[in-house]
Amino acid sequence: MSFRPVFIAVVVAFGLIVAAFLIHHARPKAEVEQPSSALVEASGKCAECHARLQYAVVHEYEMSAHAKKGVTCLDCHQPAPGQQKMEHHGFTLSTHLTAGNCRACHEGIYQQFLESRHAASAWAAIHGTQGLSPEQIAFSEKYEPGGVNRPANPLTALEGAAAVTGGCEQCHAIGKPNEDGTLGTCTDCHSRHADSVALSRMPSTCGQCHMGPDHSQIEIYTQSKHGVQFAAFHNQLNLAANPERLSTRDMWIPTCATCHMSGLSGLKVTHNVSERLSWYLAAPVSTKRPDYVEAQENMKEVCSQCHTRATIDRVYQQAEQQVAVTNDRVLAAQAILNGLQKDGLLTGPPLTHAIDFTYFNLWHYDGRTSKHGAFMGGADFVQWHGNYALLQGTVELQHEAEELRREHGRK
Ligand code: HEC
Ligand code: HEC
Ligand code: HEC
Ligand code: HEC
Ligand code: HEC
Ligand code: HEC
Ligand code: HEC
Ligand code: HEC
Repeated sequence: MSFRPVFIAVVVAFGLIVAAFLIHHARPKAEVEQPSSALVEASGKCAECHARLQYAVVHEYEMSAHAKKGVTCLDCHQPAPGQQKMEHHGFTLSTHLTAGNCRACHEGIYQQFLESRHAASAWAAIHGTQGLSPEQIAFSEKYEPGGVNRPANPLTALEGAAAVTGGCEQCHAIGKPNEDGTLGTCTDCHSRHADSVALSRMPSTCGQCHMGPDHSQIEIYTQSKHGVQFAAFHNQLNLAANPERLSTRDMWIPTCATCHMSGLSGLKVTHNVSERLSWYLAAPVSTKRPDYVEAQENMKEVCSQCHTRATIDRVYQQAEQQVAVTNDRVLAAQAILNGLQKDGLLTGPPLTHAIDFTYFNLWHYDGRTSKHGAFMGGADFVQWHGNYALLQGTVELQHEAEELRREHGRK
């Protein structure tokens, strides 16, 4: 036997091995690490095309916990019960994904989400009961009394469809009724393909909606002791820690999620963001929630992982004083408007007189800010964006009311 054919055979074999290795290497990580037939069938085929079309999508998926656990592209993209189907290169996909595509594997979480104001109440705030089924209304009313059974906010009609679609709905669709009979979306906090708890624990994730003068939670947080420390040390926190085992060793600085959702050091983790709230702070005049005692204890348990009871009770005592003061100011402002209405000086629908806006800004901006600031460590928001603005608003309201009475000759 001559040396030549053996040499060629060895070179060809080596070449084939290298080629196989390179091809293997180019396949998505999920496929390489989890070579189940279903995964090769679904994710592999989808990724073949989509890595060329939208590499970013496939890359995000590859890094996700889903890919590591063998959840395929098709597991999410196949039509859930009640969804419209679409034929797609040999696969049947859903035309539009909702919480319905996640609940098959995360039903318990979906149910907690449904109990919160992030679900039906968030939608009802801008559209009333429109689009919600009688069962959905009844379910939500059980957990959030008055949250759904109400008319749409008058601003939606006054500002029109473009403002509602591009504005209100971008935030309030977190609880939108979907065609498949489910409510809302999970991807506002988890994203579509990264699906990470680390992302959902970032304050900026909540801050995309919880911002601005009417609910300045992200602004308050950023300048609070908690937010300042988070900005300085977030690189050292283990933001991706498993929710079941999250401890103050992973996160010794709280974010929005820590206080409102996480199960820090063995506490119960929840997707019901309303579970730890004792007051209706967003209301013009705040009242206690039906589960006031239990809810407050739930939140104080969270603080207790990092603070002594004395510190926590001091914060709550001061904040509840602020709630009382704000309620008094708003009630006084309401009394001025009620007087004008009684005397026939304010007629017609809401938000049609200049003085309506003075009142609206007073409770909706200044009142809320003072209360939110007090509970979440925002001194400047308690004072300059809160109490000072409430005082100014009250004086302006009194002045405008006097003007109206003068105009009507009834001093
Ligand atoms: C043969 C190539 C190919 C395969 C295989 C493939 N896709 Fe696509 N897909 C495309 C193309 C092309 C588009 C249109 C892209 C565009 O508009 O830029 C598309 C669009 C999509 C869209 C957007 C649809 C829309 O209407 O907005 C989704 C979602 C999608 N594909 C998911 C998948 C999933 C999941 C799989 C696997 C189950 C898959 N694709 C398999 C080529 C493919
Ligand atoms: C955890 C569930 C999940 C997995 C797994 C998943 N997707 Fe998606 N994907 C979504 C959701 C949710 C959307 C948003 C769809 C919508 O708005 O209707 C989406 C959107 C898309 C889009 C449209 C993107 C755009 O911005 O227009 C493409 C393309 C897509 N997915 C492809 C894939 C491919 C390919 C895979 C696998 C490599 C995959 N997806 C895996 C949930 C998932
Ligand atoms: C086919 C089942 C399946 C579907 C469908 C599914 N998931 Fe998952 N999901 C899983 C599994 C399995 C894990 C990993 C759990 C673990 O590690 O204990 C997971 C983990 C997660 C995590 C935690 C990730 C982390 O960083 O640890 C999030 C967030 C998540 N899923 C969100 C979603 C969302 C949002 C959807 C819908 C768009 C969805 N899932 C659809 C099975 C699924
Ligand atoms: C896509 C927008 C959006 C995102 C993102 C979002 N929220 Fe909300 N959130 C809302 C809306 C809208 C409401 C008001 C619901 C209502 O009408 O009462 C709300 C209400 C709340 C409430 C008050 C619930 C009650 O019972 O009064 C809390 C607490 C809350 N969110 C916490 C969070 C946290 C924590 C995050 C991040 C992990 C977050 N939210 C992310 C839109 C969002
Ligand atoms: C940037 C996101 C965002 C936009 C845009 C937005 N909201 Fe909200 N809205 C929120 C958040 C977050 C809350 C929760 C405030 C809180 O509990 O402190 C909220 C609370 C409310 C509430 C009080 C809670 C309730 O259920 O009664 C009403 C009413 C409301 N919004 C109506 C509207 C209307 C109407 C529009 C448009 C004209 C709108 N919102 C636009 C994020 C938004
Ligand atoms: C308001 C933002 C928000 C929304 C909406 C949301 N999540 Fe989450 N989710 C979080 C946060 C924050 C965590 C991490 C909690 C913690 O710190 O332990 C989390 C954790 C998870 C986990 C990991 C839980 C575990 O025990 O490993 C899964 C799975 C998940 N979410 C699925 C979903 C699904 C499904 C939906 C829709 C029904 C959804 N999420 C809606 C914020 C959200
Ligand atoms: C240190 C813990 C902590 C952090 C961090 C925190 N909150 Fe809060 N939050 C509270 C407390 C306490 C209350 C008042 C609870 C009550 O009503 O008893 C509150 C109230 C709220 C409310 C008011 C609900 C209503 O009744 O109108 C919203 C919305 C909210 N927080 C969202 C957020 C968001 C978004 C972030 C991050 C930008 C955040 N919180 C950060 C502790 C925290
Ligand atoms: C995960 C740990 C953690 C949680 C949970 C937490 N905090 Fe803090 N808190 C901190 C850290 C860290 C600081 C900064 C302390 C410093 O400046 O040295 C801080 C500072 C404070 C301060 C200012 C310092 C002081 O003692 O006056 C107050 C007030 C406060 N937190 C209240 C609360 C309240 C109320 C809660 C629950 C609603 C809470 N915290 C939840 C870690 C936490």
